[in-house]
Amino acid sequence: MATQSLHSTSPPPGDESAVRLREPELADGPEMWRLARDSNVLDVNSPYSYVLWCRDFSGTSVVARADGAACGFVTGYVRPDRRDTLFVWQVAVDRAHRGQGLARRMLDRLGDRMPELGCRYMEATVTPGNAASAAMFESFARGRGCPVVRSPLFGDEHLPAGHEPEILFRIGPLNHP
Ligand SMILES: CC(C)(COP(=O)(O)OP(=O)(O)OC[C@H]1O[C@@H](n2cnc3c(N)ncnc32)[C@H](O)[C@@H]1OP(=O)(O)O)[C@@H](O)C(=O)NCCC(=O)NCCS
Repeated sequence: MATQSLHSTSPPPGDESAVRLREPELADGPEMWRLARDSNVLDVNSPYSYVLWCRDFSGTSVVARADGAACGFVTGYVRPDRRDTLFVWQVAVDRAHRGQGLARRMLDRLGDRMPELGCRYMEATVTPGNAASAAMFESFARGRGCPVVRSPLFGDEHLPAGHEPEILFRIGPLNHP
């Protein structure tokens, strides 16, 4: 029979309580870029843009870390001309951590910050082929008891050939306590 130390500090594999969420710092930028690149789904922006994001939009973003590495992130910002709306730009979860509620946890963390940000709506765009992304935002909206309104936002006239159109998901109004 295998013996197990009573003092083991390593959580069992798959234990999502070991994943910590916080606002990103500059040092998270390169890892966020890596997660975006390795998703093979997201548009990969420059490494510079992720580190800049960590400097200027940390308060509207989330990074998830486990075992000393980033395993997920959400980048967002408050729309300058609609200050009641938090726009979620990118969400990524490392393959090893998918299907365990991590994206939903990160969105909920942002949702919990929305009252202090003065936001009652969350927006994001989703490509028609990204069922996981659509399900994730629907899940968040359901959890908050809010409707999701879908409408076309960016099409062929805005995006290069071969890029799927981007459908706007507008979630809200959130009922803050
Ligand atoms: C989309 C993504 C972030 C989801 O991360 P995740 O941690 O696995 O998602 P969660 O486990 O929190 O699931 C959230 C909801 O989405 C659903 N979902 C997740 N992956 C799904 C999939 N592949 N197909 C259908 N539904 C899916 C879950 O069932 C859950 O819904 P529920 O609460 O109704 O059960 C992840 O698949 C990913 O990084 N994909 C590549 C990048 C991307 O597409 N980002 C989104 C666009 S910005």
